[in-house]
Amino acid sequence: MADSNVYPPGPDFVRGAHVKGMEGYRELYRRAAENPEEFWGALAEQELFWFKKWHHVFEWNPPDVKWFAGGQTNVCYNCVDRHLDTARKNKVAILWEGEPGDQRQISYQELHRLVSRFANVLKGRGLKTGDRAVIYMGMVPELPVALLACARLGIIHSVVFGGFSAEALKARIQDLEAQVVITCDGAWRRGKEVPLKSAVDEALIECPAVRDVIVLRRTGGAVEMREGRDHWWHELDEGASENCPAEPLDSEQPLYVLYTSGTTGKPKGIVHTTAGYLLQCVMTMKWVFDLREEDTYWCTADIGWVTGHSYIVYGPLAAGATAVMYEGAPDFPQPDRFWRLIEKYRVSIFYTSPTAIRSFIRQGDQWPNGHDMSSLRLLGSVGEPINPAAWEWYYKTIGKERCPIVDTWWQTETGAILIAPMPGAVPLKPGSASLPLPGILPEVVDLSGKTRETGQEGYLVIRRPWPSMARTLWRDPERYRSQYWERIHGSYMTGDAARMDQDGYFWILGRVDDVMNVSGHRLSTMEVESALVRHPAVAEAAVVGKPHEITGQAVACFVTLKKGSWDRPKLAEELRKWVAHEIGGFAKPEQIRFADALPKTRSGKIMRRLLREIVTANTVTGDVTTLEDLSVVTQLSSQADED
Ligand code: PRX
Repeated sequence: MADSNVYPPGPDFVRGAHVKGMEGYRELYRRAAENPEEFWGALAEQELFWFKKWHHVFEWNPPDVKWFAGGQTNVCYNCVDRHLDTARKNKVAILWEGEPGDQRQISYQELHRLVSRFANVLKGRGLKTGDRAVIYMGMVPELPVALLACARLGIIHSVVFGGFSAEALKARIQDLEAQVVITCDGAWRRGKEVPLKSAVDEALIECPAVRDVIVLRRTGGAVEMREGRDHWWHELDEGASENCPAEPLDSEQPLYVLYTSGTTGKPKGIVHTTAGYLLQCVMTMKWVFDLREEDTYWCTADIGWVTGHSYIVYGPLAAGATAVMYEGAPDFPQPDRFWRLIEKYRVSIFYTSPTAIRSFIRQGDQWPNGHDMSSLRLLGSVGEPINPAAWEWYYKTIGKERCPIVDTWWQTETGAILIAPMPGAVPLKPGSASLPLPGILPEVVDLSGKTRETGQEGYLVIRRPWPSMARTLWRDPERYRSQYWERIHGSYMTGDAARMDQDGYFWILGRVDDVMNVSGHRLSTMEVESALVRHPAVAEAAVVGKPHEITGQAVACFVTLKKGSWDRPKLAEELRKWVAHEIGGFAKPEQIRFADALPKTRSGKIMRRLLREIVTANTVTGDVTTLEDLSVVTQLSSQADED
C-alpha cells in the first residue's frame, strides 16, 4: 500500500468540526496521554448522566480494570430518558425503513414509551439484573428496543446475528445460560422470509434454562407457538405499563456479551460493561463522526455485530442522533437501494464496509450516479482494510470529493473505535486508519514486545487500558488473560499485524492468527474445521482464508475423506451446505478441495501457511474438487514449519 495521496481536511469542514486542525487533535491527545484520569474523568462528568458519582476514574490490575469504580449510571437512561427534558424529546431517534418499503419514525419520547413497556414485559416474566437474554431478530425497531429494555434493568443481553444457524444459536444460548430468548417470526431478506422462530425452536431442544420465548410478529409467516413457553410480543406488550424507571447500575455492571470468533473452534463471549463502554461510544460519535445536532446518520451494519451495538444503538442514541436503520439487503429490489435511502432521508453521515464498497464498484457507477446524494458530508469505513482503489472510488463517486472518509480501526473486544482520523483535523491517506484517538496508545512491536522501527511490520498492541475495552470472556477469564494480555506482557494484543509510517499513521495489514475476515465478519478457521469434521464423510479438514476481490477473504477448505466411494462434486456441494447449517450462511465455503493427506508438522499441527500459499498462488491447478496429493509439499515443508 503506497502512502502517496494525502487529503487534508477542507476549510469548510474544519470550521464546523468538533476538533479543528492538527493542533486541536494534538492537544487532546497530549492531555489524555499525560493525565488520563483527569481527561476521562472530566468527559464522564460532562457527557454522561450519573445516579451516583464514581470514586476512582480507573483501577488497573492487569488484566483487570475498573472504570469509574463506585459510580452508578444506566445506559438506557443515557440513551433515552435524559433527552426528554431537552429539545430532543420530539426529535426522531430512529428513522427506520423495512425491506418491503414500510417506514417508521420513532422520536426519543416514543422510544421511551416502547422501551419502558418492553422492560415491564421482561420484569413481568420475572427477569432481573444479572439475568441473561439472547436476542435473535432481524433489523426491526424492536431490536434496539429489546437491547435498551435489557440495559434499563441490567439484564445482560447477547444478540446473535440472524444469519447464524440454529446450531450456532444453541451454543450461544447454552454458554450464556440465558433465561429468555427474544426473536421474530422471520425477517425479510431479498424479498424472502428468513425463518427465525423455527431456528429458535430447533436450538431450544437442548437449552433447558430458557423459560420464555418472546416472539415479535414481523413477516406474518406461520410459526409454532409452544404453550407456556412462547409468547407474542404484542400480547405481552398490550397490558404493560409505561412507567418503568431505569435501574441505577454499577459502572462495571455487564451490559452485554457478544460472541466472536477466536482461534479455537469455540466462540468467545466478549463481555462489555456499562459506563466506560458508553462514554467511549459517545466520544467517538463526536471525534470520528463529528456528529452535529442536525445530522442524519446511517451505519449500515447489522446489530448482530459489534458495529451495530456501538454505532447503531448505543453511540448514536446516547449522543442524541437521528439514526437511519434499514432492514434488508443493499441490492433489493435493485442495486441502488442504499443510494435511494441516502437521497430520501438526506443522510449526512454514512458508515459502511469495504466489502459493500467493492460490490458497489462492481455493480457500476450508474446506480449511485442516478441519485442526488448532496446531503452527504462524511463517509466511514469499518471491518477490514480498505484498499486504496476502493477508497478513491468511495471518495470520488459517493463523496464527490467533498466528504472526508474516516477509516475506523477497532474490534469487538475494543468496544469502540480506537484508531481513525478526526475528520476536521487529520489529513487522510487512503488505506490507512491514520492516528490513534485520545487515550489510545498503540504500538507496533516484535514478539518480545520491543517497538519496531518506523515502516517495519509487526504486531499491533495497545499499551494502556481504555474505557470501552472488553473486561473478560464470559465464564473464561483465563482465556482472556492468556489470549490478550500475556503474549506481550502488560499490553493488549490485538491479533492484527500493522506498520506505522514516518507520520505516525497506522497501516493495518490483517490478522496474524487463525482468524479469517470474510465480508468484514470474523470467522475462525477452526470453527469451520470443527463443523466439517462433524460431517460423517469427513476424516480431517483444514481451512484457510483465500484472498477475494469483493469479500476480502473467502473460506477455502481442504478435506480428507473417510474410506468409501464418494461422489466428490456432489459431496463438495453438500459440505458447503453443511457448514452453512452448522454456522450460518455467511460462513459457506467458496471452495472444498479434497486431498489424500493434509500437510502437517512433525508434531501434527496443520500447516495453514502452506495451504494459504496454495490457495493464494493457486499452485495446485485443475478442478477444485479433484484429489490433491499434498504429501510431497508436506515432506518438503514440514521441517521448515517446525523450526
Ligand atoms: O483485523 C481487524 C479488522 O477486523 C478485526 C476485528 O473484527 P471484529 O471484531 O469482527 O470487528 C469488526 C468491526 C469493528 C480487526 O482485528 N478490522 C476492523 N476494522 C478495520 C480492520 N482492519 C483494517 N482496517 C479497519 N478499519
